[in-house]
Amino acid sequence: MNETIYLLKAHRSIRKFTDQPVNQETVRELISAGQCAATSSFIQACTVIQVDDQQTRDLLCDYAAGQLYVKEAPVFLVFCADMQRHRLACSMHDAPMLSGFTEQFITATVDCALFAQNVLIGAESLGLGGCYIGAIRNRIAEVDELLGLPELVYPLFGMCLGYPAQNPETKPRLPVDVVLKRGRYDDSGDRASITDYDESVRNYYRTRTGGAKNDSWSEQISEMLVKEARPHMLSYLQAKGYLLK
Ligand SMILES: Cc1cc2nc3c(=O)[nH]c(=O)nc-3n(C[C@H](O)[C@H](O)[C@H](O)COP(=O)(O)O)c2cc1C
Repeated sequence: MNETIYLLKAHRSIRKFTDQPVNQETVRELISAGQCAATSSFIQACTVIQVDDQQTRDLLCDYAAGQLYVKEAPVFLVFCADMQRHRLACSMHDAPMLSGFTEQFITATVDCALFAQNVLIGAESLGLGGCYIGAIRNRIAEVDELLGLPELVYPLFGMCLGYPAQNPETKPRLPVDVVLKRGRYDDSGDRASITDYDESVRNYYRTRTGGAKNDSWSEQISEMLVKEARPHMLSYLQAKGYLLK
């Protein structure tokens, strides 16, 4: 294993932070590293909004199910998939941009996620820790309005960053054989592998919570996926000019 692989495998979300501020130069450097992620057809379709204002952070915390680290983390970033500046680029050449394609939604969203992951890994390499906040999509229209997002710009997720005030264990992932298929899709061994994996997830939670939580991975998934998943997202995204064709 080299240092990079070690760093990647040491990832765990951090949700408690010390008071030590993060230097703004560091934030800028991390954003610059985020920009260096691969980008589909060079579209560079991510805009990051750094939210420093405490009142805005308090509101974002409310919108994100009251997760306290949203208002407490030294740095809070909102990653937005952004095809707005492409409209500007087209207009600079008198080219009327066509929008609304599902493909554009995918490329902008993927771009944004790759950018964000570079930021998080870069942060971890500097001794910072962080946590994605998908829960801002619980009340995405309010987040959108709060941040003044124009058409074709939507908030994909937030990210808390700061110096860790906790040192959680890494969370076990699915066995490689479940996620790496060779040649063609074959899930015949998955049930047995997931059954074994369930036990390691149970152990992880038992140790972490002193026995209070004892869920397996398949249990967690089966509880989550019988509920609707933010059904407001489709109409929100369509109103923003995405997923129309
Ligand atoms: C897109 C995305 C959204 C997430 N949203 C939240 C969130 O709203 N709140 C939270 O506490 N963790 C959130 N997480 C963190 C995941 O729960 C976490 O990554 C997962 O449980 C694996 O744990 P680990 O990151 O410690 O390895 C999110 C992660 C991703 C990738």
